[in-house]
Amino acid sequence: MKETETAHKAWDETWKSEDGRAIWLDPEQEVRELADRLFESGARKVLDLGCGVGRHAAYFASRGYETWALDGSETGVEHARKLAEKTGLSIDFEVGLMTDLPYGDAMFDYVISFNVIYHGDQKTVAKAVSEIRRTLKPGGIYQGTMLSKRNGYYGKGVEVSKDTFVYDHDGSGDEAHPHYYCDARELVELFEGFEVSTLRDVNHDHRRSEHWHWHLAAERLP
Ligand SMILES: C[S@@+](CC[C@H](N)C(=O)[O-])C[C@H]1O[C@@H](n2cnc3c(N)ncnc32)[C@H](O)[C@@H]1O
Repeated sequence: MKETETAHKAWDETWKSEDGRAIWLDPEQEVRELADRLFESGARKVLDLGCGVGRHAAYFASRGYETWALDGSETGVEHARKLAEKTGLSIDFEVGLMTDLPYGDAMFDYVISFNVIYHGDQKTVAKAVSEIRRTLKPGGIYQGTMLSKRNGYYGKGVEVSKDTFVYDHDGSGDEAHPHYYCDARELVELFEGFEVSTLRDVNHDHRRSEHWHWHLAAERLP
């Protein structure tokens, strides 16, 4: 494990409480929409990378996808597994790290990683992107988010390497672990070997400035 790849430990604590899990249970509309569209055009194998408590993996399996889901948090995977068992969904779960995926080359039609791969420094994030590229089929689709430099946490705390910040403001949040922030040009450079097809900077809470995240979809080039 790389030194900066530690945020899953904070998430493991979050996933232990009902309050911590509460806002992560409903699949995002944009994920549902793209998943449905890709399924209609023939996509069948999907990976939910950094699945948390499994909201997207459950959605994919319920729509007929052959579904794999991985997370660095054992507690997250345990909850996701229980939900799948309870609802009779077949999902192949794994506890593991985004920089070393236990899957073969060109295995997936679709990989999503929602609010996950920016946990680390630039090198860690670049390694996660190369693992996503390796495991996607040529022409396969990646959907995910990255932290934008417009985000209110950008520049806060200690810069442990370029554009990577650790902000230990209350001793418990995942900001106490390295987070990498980028602008649009840096994001496109990071996704070398992909054609970025949509890119939007979204503020999830317009009353506050903390919440700017890039939302992207990209096609894996041959
Ligand atoms: C903000 S949560 C998002 C969970 C899920 N993608 C969702 O949208 O509901 C981030 C997740 O990424 C996982 N994570 C963080 N760093 C990771 C790493 N290096 N490898 C694997 N999972 C990681 C955490 O354990 C946590 O479950």
